[in-house]
Amino acid sequence: MAAHDEQIPMEARAGAPLRGTAQVPGDKSISHRALILGALAVGETRISGLLEGQDVLDTAAAMRAFGAEVVRHGPGEWSVHGVGVGGFAEPEDVIDCGNSGTGVRLVMGAMATTPITATFTGDASLRARPMGRITDPLALFGARAVGREGGRLPMTLTGAADPVPVRYELPVPSAQVKSAVLLAGLNAPGETVVIEREATRDHTERMLAGFGAEISVEESSEGRVITLAGQPELRAQEIHVPRDPSSAAFPVCAALIVPGSDVLVPGISLNPTRAGLFETLCEMGADLTYENEREAGGEPVADLRARYSPAMKGVEVPPGRAPSMIDEYPILAVVAANAEGVTRMLGVGELRVKECDRIDAMAKGLRACGVAVEEGPDSMAVQGLGAGNVPGGATCETRLDHRIAMSFLVLGLAAQRPVAVDDAGPVATSFPVFEPLMKALGAAIMRKNR
Ligand code: S3P
Repeated sequence: MAAHDEQIPMEARAGAPLRGTAQVPGDKSISHRALILGALAVGETRISGLLEGQDVLDTAAAMRAFGAEVVRHGPGEWSVHGVGVGGFAEPEDVIDCGNSGTGVRLVMGAMATTPITATFTGDASLRARPMGRITDPLALFGARAVGREGGRLPMTLTGAADPVPVRYELPVPSAQVKSAVLLAGLNAPGETVVIEREATRDHTERMLAGFGAEISVEESSEGRVITLAGQPELRAQEIHVPRDPSSAAFPVCAALIVPGSDVLVPGISLNPTRAGLFETLCEMGADLTYENEREAGGEPVADLRARYSPAMKGVEVPPGRAPSMIDEYPILAVVAANAEGVTRMLGVGELRVKECDRIDAMAKGLRACGVAVEEGPDSMAVQGLGAGNVPGGATCETRLDHRIAMSFLVLGLAAQRPVAVDDAGPVATSFPVFEPLMKALGAAIMRKNR
């Protein structure tokens, strides 16, 4: 599925139960970090299970542009010959990060303390997203950014020639901002400290430790205090990328709402900074079990089994849970529409600055499908209709947002009339095999003639 070139209208309709095993691809967050830290290490990092979605491919291209040798050996099998901390070369051309907020923000962080200049851009979605949240802390290191009005891409960043270490308290719970600051701190002398009130995904901290950086995390009354010693020599690693819980969410939630379904999704990371959706689904009464719990690649992993759950109830999802399921609210809204009673999602203002305004996109699409939704600046409440009672019968806008596209297609699998999306192309950014994987489970998802 081409992400930005041509629109790919698709439709989903109710049909057979979903059954079988869904091997979802590698974790997107970990894949970006493996490429970037591999590029900053000395020696050859070998990666298996890399997500080959467009977002990650764009980060691979960026790492090549900064001088690393990035080679694909086979499906998911990659190697990165790093240039060492501080060794990035100046790219010859503009860096196009496509649709990826994680890609652009982490790469900008990684170059912000090296005295080179690079210009970044992306697709229409990425060019609308705020970059001030990273250029503000990167300026504290001595980096200079010039972008469009409102801190938007295209943007040119000149890294600090004499970087100073930074102590930074995150104003928003964002793993991208935290990671940008930590990656910038790698080439600053002394200790860089990041403080986060609420824990966000911790893959950067885990992976930095794996690459040999001196990094410590302390829980204090201020929150999580992360301290990184600057200018380490990162040692090349072998990285096995676990499967992505944010992608697993789609077949799992589809199984919960399609009558008769029973789906196994093996090898999913249960990292607590990512597991908020599964916790919420269990509270709603989902028949969701963890089988074969084990450790893999430093992460707790299990096989998830989801079965049709017609008696789910609406719940209140507390604001403190938002960072651990921030990408999962669109698909939760779809499950909520099929549950009894209201599901209230609180403290979710960050959804307004994702690939699109996800509160607005979900509210409009769900209403068009006959589901009542109330929205506030940082909240959303979905009035559940109960299992099998969503009317459907609309075409929903996906707004260059992969998770909006997949969410409405899953909605269509359990709705009374088909649900269409105007463009499923963006699905290729994070879950390129979504369509064949869902079809193999028995889902009636099809491309439509334009
Ligand atoms: C990500 C962090 C989150 C998430 C995104 C991936 C990461 O963004 O939405 O899909 O890999 O660090 P924020 O940091 O903006 O919350």
